[in-house]
Amino acid sequence: MKSCSRDARSARKDRPRSARPVVTAAAAAAIGGGLLAASCTSLAPARVPSSPAGPALTAPSSTAPAAPVASHAAWLDRALSCDERADLLVRALTRDEKLTLVTGYFGVQKEWNHYRFPEARPQSAGLVRGVPRLGFPPQWQSDAGSGVATQGEAPPDLERTALPSGILTASTWNPALAERAGGMIGNEARASGFNVMLAGGVNLMREPGNGRNFEYGGEDPLLAGTMVGALVRGIQSNRIVATVKHYALNDQETGRRSVNVLIDEAAARVSDLLAFQLAIEQGDPGSVMCSYNLVNGVYACQSDWLLNQVLKRDWGFKGYVMSDWSGQRDTVLGANGGLDQETGVSHAGQYVWLDKLATAIDRGDVSPARLDDMVHRIARTLIDKGAIDDPVEPGPIDFAGHAKVTQADAEEGIVLLKNDGALPLAAGTRTVALVGGHADVGVLTGGGSAQVYAPGGNAVRGLGPPHWPGPQVYARSSPLEALRTELPGAAIRWNDGADPRAAAQAAQGAEVAIVFVAQWTAESMDFPLTLPDDQDALVEAVARANKHTVVVLETGGPVLLPWVDRVSAVLEAWYPGSAGGSAIARVLSGAVNPSGHLPISFPRSLDELPRPTIAGTGLPKDQGFDVHYDEGAAVGYRWYDQRERVPRFPFGLGLSYTSFARDRLSARAESAKLEVTFRVRNTGKRAGKDVAQVYVSPVGGGWEAPKRLGAFAKVALAPGEAQELSVAVDPRLLSVWDAPRGRFRLAAGDYRVTLASSARDPGQSVIVTLPERALPAGAGAPQ
Ligand code: BGC
Repeated sequence: MKSCSRDARSARKDRPRSARPVVTAAAAAAIGGGLLAASCTSLAPARVPSSPAGPALTAPSSTAPAAPVASHAAWLDRALSCDERADLLVRALTRDEKLTLVTGYFGVQKEWNHYRFPEARPQSAGLVRGVPRLGFPPQWQSDAGSGVATQGEAPPDLERTALPSGILTASTWNPALAERAGGMIGNEARASGFNVMLAGGVNLMREPGNGRNFEYGGEDPLLAGTMVGALVRGIQSNRIVATVKHYALNDQETGRRSVNVLIDEAAARVSDLLAFQLAIEQGDPGSVMCSYNLVNGVYACQSDWLLNQVLKRDWGFKGYVMSDWSGQRDTVLGANGGLDQETGVSHAGQYVWLDKLATAIDRGDVSPARLDDMVHRIARTLIDKGAIDDPVEPGPIDFAGHAKVTQADAEEGIVLLKNDGALPLAAGTRTVALVGGHADVGVLTGGGSAQVYAPGGNAVRGLGPPHWPGPQVYARSSPLEALRTELPGAAIRWNDGADPRAAAQAAQGAEVAIVFVAQWTAESMDFPLTLPDDQDALVEAVARANKHTVVVLETGGPVLLPWVDRVSAVLEAWYPGSAGGSAIARVLSGAVNPSGHLPISFPRSLDELPRPTIAGTGLPKDQGFDVHYDEGAAVGYRWYDQRERVPRFPFGLGLSYTSFARDRLSARAESAKLEVTFRVRNTGKRAGKDVAQVYVSPVGGGWEAPKRLGAFAKVALAPGEAQELSVAVDPRLLSVWDAPRGRFRLAAGDYRVTLASSARDPGQSVIVTLPERALPAGAGAPQ
């Protein structure tokens, strides 16, 4: 954990950072990239607002003032540490004021919201009221990882830049790009008046049909933790708070409020929990959102084990835990279990800590010290991240600049899954048939609380559920128009794909047919892996009519591809964000050489999964049920390896228009670290970016599966160029969890270190002998 007291002179960075060099070893990002703007040790004189910052602070708080500002202004003294300031504030607050700071409401100004406080930001997820008497601002909370979301149809003034989905950003395997993307959406959050962003999501993909896979970072703890940690760093570089969520094991939406996840602690510590741990270490988020589900019989938001023991004690988390929206259930169990803030209250009589926590304290069920701890954590965090000394205020947004950031992300995260030579499209291509997926007007986005309305609003109306988590929203970025720009000499014929026969006719005779297929996914629902609306039949029909058929997928996660052997190329564009149409067209034309790699495995069929049917399917809403994670830590490729099964497309796969060679692999145990060095060469004729993946495995076995991803590096190379790279493997990735001792244990022995281009690539290996080591459960990188 980083210290709260850092130099405030590292100025506010509310602009997206300029692109960094592309070479990004995950380990280097972990060590080097995490120091954020801070606010606690400034030499500047204390700033006591003569009038409270912004109109919202002038609104009466829910509690009566107890004293004039001046006598309680000490906590605003920037020369003090965050902890000292938070302590002074806690001492100055009345009990009602403390309770105000731990009680969160829905921000949406709709009739169903009983609490429509005037200071809430319109259409926003949440509001925690402030304490004007002491200059403590409201906490204005906005979703989520793809940008500033709205909870309903957004009027034009709430349209914001949409980043690609989280799974696309993870597919870049480029933490510097994720950080820049986070910087951009954090900038829009600040400029929209939000000081808390409810992003980033780091739940591992255990269920390929999970409706929220699009929000997360894939199936591997190192990749997901690194990429989400980087996004969080970027968001918080705007001196606002980011929120890592949904802690923990909230890996399906079916019965998300009633599912009881059963998992062995040793397995959780090296899979789902490790993803959170890495994201928290690398991103230093101010807040963690606990999830709706139960874990081993206890609601996550009441889990002493998850919140007090693992998060706060073992990992040394100094921020605060907020519940998922109205996910708090029992005041006493929540407060004593480690929950610091309830959120999303919208109905009268629902949980409102303002009253219920007061009663619990009066009864002696919760100690006053626990309330002080909650408030201390919240205040310390807002001070630490800069949201107190640099109050947020709505302001202008550089949409043109931000479009470049989202496009760069999309261009690196689109994954070329198959290519028999149809791509890139030849420069002299004269006829193209473009079919389906509303590619004439836009690109799909994911639904639910993370829904961003991109500039121009929804390009395709009337699709999907009329109400939340719908409707389906298309960002106004037309692949058709963009392809016309890319291929000015080509006649591009458009067919909407509604009738497969008409589509086949349109495809016949064209030099190449490009079919767009889309699957909308959303929060609160899970989805089948079969493409909806008979789009498989559409692809089959077009592929029969044209032997140069390219399929572009816009999906939230993996889908089944029954036609894959009958098409020439497949591009996974995920939900590519506000500039997605252009990014897709540039990858198709070859203006961009694809460099995205899968952060998940694509299954061949449902029966090869640990759970062919998602647990709880068909049960009445709110009926409790168990899901047994018998696969333990063998998630994704680890599962396939353990079962000796071959997925349709493996984790780590990503094709390029050039070729790479990797050699000179060596590995050595350097003091406490395993250092791996190798060389990557671009052996083709185009500039491109390679993702070198280092997998580790104990020669004698003993893990949940044969191997784990140990490190990775993305490198940009001109044709013929070579580069030596060095990455370090975090020793926890070489360890098992020693439950009786509460720590990681790296067993002495021989380990195979493999340099590969995917989880299925045999690559090349060396053996290294490592001594036995015990590693602490947390508190930063082990020594
Ligand atoms: C989601 C959270 C989100 C919150 C506020 C909940 O339904 O699970 O991810 O941050 O709503 O919108």
